[in-house]
Amino acid sequence: MMTILEQLKEDHDNLSRLLAILEQKVRKLRTGEHPNFGLMAEAIDYITNFADAYHHPWENEIYKHFQGRDEQLDKAMNYCADQHHEMIHLGSELAESVDCILHDAVIPMDQFTDRLELFVVKQVEHLKLEDEELMPALLRVANTVDWQTLEKALSRPEDPLFGTTQSRRYSELYQQLLLANESF
Ligand SMILES: [Fe+2]
Ligand SMILES: [Fe+2]
Repeated sequence: MMTILEQLKEDHDNLSRLLAILEQKVRKLRTGEHPNFGLMAEAIDYITNFADAYHHPWENEIYKHFQGRDEQLDKAMNYCADQHHEMIHLGSELAESVDCILHDAVIPMDQFTDRLELFVVKQVEHLKLEDEELMPALLRVANTVDWQTLEKALSRPEDPLFGTTQSRRYSELYQQLLLANESF
């Protein structure tokens, strides 16, 4: 069993790996190359259906626990919670566009690339804000009892990509991540 802080770091590391893959897709699209949209769809699906659906609500619960302890921290937490909301919106728009492409609908590629890039930029910004500003502020006010309380209160489903068993819907993405690991 991972602690909450370990889990948080793990989630963020995993998300960063997927966002790096999507950044690479943005670069390919900008040079006019045709990227693997199936793989892209899996990465976006994971982020919107797992990260947006479980990681962020799980963080919202952590934020709620620490609400009212420190003004700066409250500000950062409220801002991050707003970003969670915004990312859901961007993610569902993007998922819809990818779905259209996979179903051979004609979509202007430059518009699609802008949308993908905005999604990636917002996600990366958010991770950075949580890691560099929110977490240090939160760690300053948190004590052992807080973590014990949260460990008991919070639960979440098995991760369908980075967990012990992988869902078939992410099979291509999983292979890609294994390959990327080997080349490091
Ligand atoms: Fe978050
Ligand atoms: Fe996060």
